Amino acid sequence: MDIVNKEKLKQVLEKWKEHPSITGLMEKFSQLQSYTNRRYKNLESFTKQKIKESKYELVELPYIDVKEDPVRPELDLQFRQSYGRKIYGLKDDVGEISAIMCFAFTNEVPKTVKEMEQLSYDAALQSVHRAGIQGSIAIAYTVWAKKKGGGRAIVDEVYKMVKKSNHLNRLVTLSPLTDMARNFHIKNGAKELQVNETTQNFEYDITLEDWETALVKAKGFLKVK
Ligand SMILES: CC(C)(COP(=O)(O)OP(=O)(O)OC[C@H]1O[C@@H](n2cnc3c(N)ncnc32)[C@H](O)[C@@H]1OP(=O)(O)O)[C@@H](O)C(=O)NCCC(=O)NCCS
Repeated sequence: MDIVNKEKLKQVLEKWKEHPSITGLMEKFSQLQSYTNRRYKNLESFTKQKIKESKYELVELPYIDVKEDPVRPELDLQFRQSYGRKIYGLKDDVGEISAIMCFAFTNEVPKTVKEMEQLSYDAALQSVHRAGIQGSIAIAYTVWAKKKGGGRAIVDEVYKMVKKSNHLNRLVTLSPLTDMARNFHIKNGAKELQVNETTQNFEYDITLEDWETALVKAKGFLKVK
């Protein structure tokens, strides 16, 4: 989205800092748009439009070149596919993979890859006794984009997938301690869960309604609390 009147937008946002309520933000939404080149009737139509615009498909990938992973290249293919762990790719409208995200499934939030390995192993063993249903927390331990915008789009699609799932009830990241990871997840609507010694966890709240998700993203984008 291009901002056509940055100064005015900055002024309005400054004022909002003292009025960070949801109602306030909703009321200001149309005013805000007058400073940008995009128009929507309200947040609900914005969300619907975004869903309609989605031209992506999430696919499980049997093979990737792990050396391409800028975050955790040391984790081999076998690690990424053992004990229920999965690799997802985002297929775009021309059939190319525009981003990749890897997952483990656990029942607790891990602070390190080692912990995640153990927790997903435990969850996999427990699942043998529970009709194959494994780990209620989806842990995204790496994400990278192969095309600009792919990163954001894969998070959106994964969010929808977890929301629809019957056995997953949380979507949490195990991210490196980098500004890129922080900016990326916060801007996409995640909340910081905790900052650990060598990693940080962000959580995407899958209990939110679609319009609430859009609101969280709008607040993140506009840096409003
Ligand atoms: C992070 C990443 C997945 C984002 O993919 P994307 O959504 O397709 O890429 P974009 O370039 O549109 O960036 C989206 C947001 O990520 C953040 N970001 C991207 N590059 C960044 C950098 N070098 N420094 C800080 N933040 C950065 C910003 O918040 C950015 O939003 P902005 O462009 O409005 O400032 C992509 O940059 C990537 O593959 N990075 C390397 C791997 C990585 O660090 N993954 C994240 C941690 S698990």
